[in-house]
Amino acid sequence: MAEADRDRRLLVLYGSQTGYAKDTAQRIARQGWRRHFAVQVQAMDEADRAAVLAAACPVIFVCSTTGQGDEPDNMRRFWRFLLRKSHPHNVLAGMAYAVFGQGDSSYQKFNFCAKRLFRRLAQLGARPIVPCGLGDDQHYLGVDGALDPWLEELWSALLDRLPLPRPIIPDSVAPDPSADITPVDGSPGDEASSAMLPPDSHPAVLVASDRLTAPDHFQDVRSFRFELEAADERPLWSPGDCAVLRPANQAADVDAFLAMMGWADRADAPLRATARSGSAVSERIPEVTTLRWLFTHYFDITAVPRRSFFEMLYYFSASEDEKERLREFSATEGQDELHTYCMRPRRTIMEVLDDLPHSRVPLGYVFDVFPEIAERSFSISSAAAATPSLVELTVAVVEYKTLMQRPRVGLCTRWLAHLPIGHRVAMRFARGTMRLPDDPAVPVIMVGPGTGVAPFMAFLRQRCVAGARSNYLFFGCRGRERDFLHRRQLEEWVADGSLRLFCAFSRDQEDKVYVQHRIREHGDLVWSLISEKGAAVFVSGNANRMPDDVRQAFADVVQSHAAGSSDSEAAACIQRMAKAGRYQEECWY
Ligand code: 2AM
Repeated sequence: MAEADRDRRLLVLYGSQTGYAKDTAQRIARQGWRRHFAVQVQAMDEADRAAVLAAACPVIFVCSTTGQGDEPDNMRRFWRFLLRKSHPHNVLAGMAYAVFGQGDSSYQKFNFCAKRLFRRLAQLGARPIVPCGLGDDQHYLGVDGALDPWLEELWSALLDRLPLPRPIIPDSVAPDPSADITPVDGSPGDEASSAMLPPDSHPAVLVASDRLTAPDHFQDVRSFRFELEAADERPLWSPGDCAVLRPANQAADVDAFLAMMGWADRADAPLRATARSGSAVSERIPEVTTLRWLFTHYFDITAVPRRSFFEMLYYFSASEDEKERLREFSATEGQDELHTYCMRPRRTIMEVLDDLPHSRVPLGYVFDVFPEIAERSFSISSAAAATPSLVELTVAVVEYKTLMQRPRVGLCTRWLAHLPIGHRVAMRFARGTMRLPDDPAVPVIMVGPGTGVAPFMAFLRQRCVAGARSNYLFFGCRGRERDFLHRRQLEEWVADGSLRLFCAFSRDQEDKVYVQHRIREHGDLVWSLISEKGAAVFVSGNANRMPDDVRQAFADVVQSHAAGSSDSEAAACIQRMAKAGRYQEECWY
């Protein structure tokens, strides 16, 4: 580090669930490096807390908020630490900070974590450099829409305090790679290493993969059943919880990718990846690995690339034409172009590289260019109380045509759909948002169109074990013979009296019928369950308009039954139920 850079230190800390916030943190770090800052980037939970508390340099926080308002796993400990009551007054008085949040404004708790973090740091005496930045997935440019202007403000404020000692390092100079990749002797971890178990995960074997929809139905919804290799004494999950899986790329895609990059001949040569900081690049990567392993299990080659991908690719392009395009895609002014080229048609990394044949990534930079495969969560349909070692997932295999008319499949659901029976995976469990009442006597009203029924299968299985019989399910799908998911099991429960089932088959007749219509039709029953029996309501499913429509249907039931209740009083009643945990939603896109 040059002398002058000693007081130009910058710490960038991130909390990132899917890798997006980490990507942003790295982008900020690169911009800092161009401005002659000595930048350190770390996950919040990796950082030395004492050093952060005493930080004499500006600290930039980047954190995402998940749909339910939860903080990402890798900032949880740091956040709990900040919340401690025992911190001395103004403990962070020496810290100048900035917070950029990544969230989705279609969720109620938009950027909840970033806002809370921003406030808490100020409470502890730290001084904000700029207002909290609020990135929004709903912006047509994604979080970058808010990030760019925010960064301009941030750099301008920082450079006022710490003026540039030398001109900014130009865009044409590539930063050093963050990792070294060296060929080694020895044998790489075999296939079993792909299931290297992270500490909190459990080995599970796929035992069944059954289609739940008719063969000619447009959507392939499957029941995937996994058998845990070792069932724990305590139940590993509660009804409403999720199983978390990390998918892998398909072998054919990996072959095509390695060939396209010119790496086919060294795909299986043993190598070691070490971060420049000296630590391991990731605990997930075997000590001795191969390019094939990395591009099968670690890097996502079917993701839609973010702007940072183009920023990095630009350095390595051997063609002036392609360089020009890449420069445009990296620039603030080119974001509309990038959106049209990449985000709208959902063009993948592989397709972009195919389209830019003279732009290839040097091996040493793979960790700087390619994003990591993120974990995905699925609601669990089985109940540990009934089958402690069986984990069932009800999943729609995502398939759609893009604007380019190319078929697209979701990485994780395609991976699941292609897993052979007997395949071993590593599975984690994560708390869902919905919680069944402890008392089995409390009636439960469930509203779950489509795969929204997934967690309710777990609810019902658990409630059957507990002898609870006051169960009401509003289920919706397109047709009785087409996509009536878990039909046999549901009908058995109806027959033995443990379930009352109300179905809305939207396309079995001329007019659309949805679950909300059925809720209104059965308003008398719904009202008596809510008002007299203390029922709890649960809503789960694809969050387009469904959750709002369903909420409105319940409000309408309240309004038509509670004497003299106005629109707003009915809405307030549902709001009160939600506050008391008697109206819970779990929705996804
Ligand atoms: P549709 O596809 O015929 O419009 C599961 O996807 C079921 O949810 C389908 O029957 C689908 O109907 C229905 N659905 C679509 N939009 C909905 C909404 N806003 N509220 C409730 N159900 C909806």
